[in-house]
Amino acid sequence: MAEYAPVDLDAAEQIEFELNGRRLSVPPGTMIADAAWAHGVEVPIFCYEPRLGRPIGACRMCLVHVEGMRGLQTACSTPVQPDMVIRSDTDEVKDAHDGVLELLLANHPLDCPVCDKGGECPLQDRTFKFGPGETRFVEHKRHFPKPLDLSTQIALDRERCISCFRCVRFSQEVAEDGHLIMQERGGDTEIATFTGDAYTGRFTGNVIDLCPVGALTSIPYRFVARPWDIKNAPSVCGECPVGCNLELTEREGKVQRVTGRPDPNYAVEEGWLCDKARWAYAADESPDRITGAVIRDGRSTRETDLEDAAGAAALLLAQPGGRAVLVGGGATVEEGFLAQELAAGPLGGAPIARVGIPETPPLAALRALPDAQIGDIDDADLVVVVGGDPTNQHPIVELRIRKAARNGVPVTVVGPRPHDLTTVGTHSLTPPGGLVNGVRAAEQALRDTERAIVVWDEADLAQEPEAAAELAAAIGATSGARQLELAAEVNGAGLRALGLPAEGVLEAIESGEVRSLLLVRADPVSGPAGARWEAALGKIEILISVAAHADPVADRATVTLPALTHREMEGVLVSTARRAQRLRPGSPGPEGAAAGWELLLALAHRLG
Ligand code: SF4
Ligand code: FES
Repeated sequence: MAEYAPVDLDAAEQIEFELNGRRLSVPPGTMIADAAWAHGVEVPIFCYEPRLGRPIGACRMCLVHVEGMRGLQTACSTPVQPDMVIRSDTDEVKDAHDGVLELLLANHPLDCPVCDKGGECPLQDRTFKFGPGETRFVEHKRHFPKPLDLSTQIALDRERCISCFRCVRFSQEVAEDGHLIMQERGGDTEIATFTGDAYTGRFTGNVIDLCPVGALTSIPYRFVARPWDIKNAPSVCGECPVGCNLELTEREGKVQRVTGRPDPNYAVEEGWLCDKARWAYAADESPDRITGAVIRDGRSTRETDLEDAAGAAALLLAQPGGRAVLVGGGATVEEGFLAQELAAGPLGGAPIARVGIPETPPLAALRALPDAQIGDIDDADLVVVVGGDPTNQHPIVELRIRKAARNGVPVTVVGPRPHDLTTVGTHSLTPPGGLVNGVRAAEQALRDTERAIVVWDEADLAQEPEAAAELAAAIGATSGARQLELAAEVNGAGLRALGLPAEGVLEAIESGEVRSLLLVRADPVSGPAGARWEAALGKIEILISVAAHADPVADRATVTLPALTHREMEGVLVSTARRAQRLRPGSPGPEGAAAGWELLLALAHRLG
């Protein structure tokens, strides 16, 4: 993970400076550490992490010589000035690096061979690269009982901690959960929660990625793998429509770890993951996972192979009678496309729909307005959140809005129900009379802005078409205003772009026209129209389900075709901000399962 801030060396405004005898330039305001890194010189850091806000200069690892300044300076917190002359290669600087590392390691257990961080540890790497090679300390090191469980997911090895404050700053200043603190002082300083309870929150796992040593490690990943026997696949998250970039760590054919992977330019998530994204991989091995094909005959079921099940499903779908296809909101673009082809061709023009919210003129009008990426929230001069519950449904959007609020951007929250962002907003409006009154109240604030971003919730605005129409008109009338949708379904944007409607199939089943139904990652019974679907499914004679996990619908399928999860397959998901992003497999998945698109192709071939 890049630890230095990105520097735009092509920016129009540049200042010149000298580093180790080279004449260079960077935009004004760039810290020396970032300027050096951008020009290929590594100044070692530990506490510095630009994503955590202003540098705090806590560890003193980054000392450099600046001509005309007394003593060495911290490169992480000293901005480059015009014609500044900097040296990071003098004997004095080398002595400082040696001294800081010698002190940091004075009580460090040097248990790298059994530490989960070993091999991918900044402390280890920088000790080799910048350290003294040997220590003058001969005293016994301090030992603690280890590890402490900071939570059910995070272990703390106290003697490895270098008191860099990164974890505490994340908790206090990014997630703003206020839990982690530095307890005690001096040599007794240690990481703890303020209350002494477990560290809970929605983003806690990020402190594992942030810790530059092996003090905070993942309990599920503890002693599972070493860096040289893993493979990392860059992929995206399919747990919600935000589509965070992440890395899947595979060992022995299984995903064993998920870590953040900042997308270029921080347009989506700046490398932070919510805890669901980080630990949902356990679901791939859960007891409800469908690992093999199943054919149901009356009350009995039999397990079989994919070949047999695909043949049986195709024969059933070829039988006379009406057929229909329902595509779940988590199906990939390829799966949606192939389901469409299957419905239009081999299934003779069968009705097809996606699970999700039907398109309406007010929603279409909102979507047609200039749109924003999540990262654009950083530069907004006003953020208006209309409906939804980003905290629970689109967690990383919540973090971005919190960051904007911290940086002084006014946030107006309009909604039918309070949520965690309500307390962040400078104005929180939950007026009686529905969303439309809230939208009218927010219009005034919009009028005085130049770069407003309106974050709107698809599900809530679908319920209130009048509010959606007013909001579209208000954004359209405000020059520079942009909109950012909070989509209801993981790949709702991708499936809608394929032209898949969200209605028609339920109505066709209710009217008795449908005998066979093909479900592609779809569980309509658990959705908002669940009761209607429950009744409608009673009319279906043949149910073919492409699914990764057992659910109330898949459980009663005539033929179940086991699908790979998003962590096990190739595919494309379109995020809520309309980024088409690629899934890559972190593991091959169960032997008896295949990607949904492969299963649909197998059906299409058998149906001619
Ligand atoms: Fe830094 Fe890790 Fe210690 Fe937290 S636990 S202060 S991140 S070394
Ligand atoms: Fe500069 Fe810690 S990295 S003081």
